[in-house]
Amino acid sequence: MLILGIESSCDETAAAVVEDGRIVHSNIVATQIEEHKKFGGVVPELASRRHCENIYDVVDSALKAANVTLSDIDAVAVTYAPGLIGALLVGVSFAKGVAMASGKPLVPVHHIAGHVAANYIAHPDLKPPYLCLVASGGHSQIVEVLDYTKFRIVGRTRDDAAGEAFDKAARVLGFCYPGGVQIDRAAQTGDPKAYKLPHPSVTGSEYDFSFSGLKTAVINIAHNAEQKGEEINKNDLAASFQRTISEILVDKTMSAARALGYKTIAAAGGVSANSGVRSLLERRCRDNGFKLYLPPQELCGDNGAMIGAQGYYDYLAGRRGDESLNAVATMSMEDI
Ligand code: KG4
Ligand code: ZN
Repeated sequence: MLILGIESSCDETAAAVVEDGRIVHSNIVATQIEEHKKFGGVVPELASRRHCENIYDVVDSALKAANVTLSDIDAVAVTYAPGLIGALLVGVSFAKGVAMASGKPLVPVHHIAGHVAANYIAHPDLKPPYLCLVASGGHSQIVEVLDYTKFRIVGRTRDDAAGEAFDKAARVLGFCYPGGVQIDRAAQTGDPKAYKLPHPSVTGSEYDFSFSGLKTAVINIAHNAEQKGEEINKNDLAASFQRTISEILVDKTMSAARALGYKTIAAAGGVSANSGVRSLLERRCRDNGFKLYLPPQELCGDNGAMIGAQGYYDYLAGRRGDESLNAVATMSMEDI
């Protein structure tokens, strides 16, 4: 079964053709990062406009790269939640038009479920149930993947998402948006033990995250140094920050897995591209005897293939959208 997956929830216009949720025939991503960089973050209105300009060519390129036409496609899957509302609306409206004009079924896909599904593409043997660490620019969650379309959130962030914390720390260090990848790069040559940073915990919620204290600690170190006219070692601070946030994300995931009896772990979302997070997950999973599945680097960030993959399972579960489908800015995976 061939699914056309369309994604436009933030600053990537993306489309892909995916077979049976696992085999990618094409995956086209038009990123807007260079444009948003000037403003230090995603400008929602600008993102919507660029999606409008790009979406036709991106979808057309995805079909051409897969060597298919719309008539070969079995269903159109589209991200409808969560994300920037104006940005989501472009993908949803376009997908509705394509589905109606071609007479193909329309399948609404939750963006975070899509991130999780990126793992099915890379790992043919991965099947639910398993525990997934989701860490992106807007979400940090520990999720029980009970089935392909059924999720239970056991931990979530109380303030910033992990990617947001990376981006804010990066800004303090003078790196441009999106800073996560630059912290990762700087950390390669830094000493991860140079700065002692807090491991904030949430009282009464063992698996919940809180990153605002960690972010404030980085800001304070930078400002104190500035006031004293001292230079901070950016690479050391980047490495210390990356080590600390990786420990927080991974330790909570390991505790949740042990408590809930999961032996299979996956990671998903932009932050799962981080080298510190990946290597610590690998080490801790090995120590605990857990099997670990990581998405390949190119499927960690937003893309259409993950929506095509999840769209297949949502299709099998009977999920359908029609001309009344709307975009939704905020929606938990538990409420899909
Ligand atoms: O999943 P994603 O592409 O978009 C959302 O759904 O939010 O995640 C984007 C986030 C950004 O905050 C970005 O800085 C972060 O993922 N990110 C990274 C790395 N690559 C992307 N953070 C840390 N290390 C990386 N290598
Ligand atoms: Zn995303």
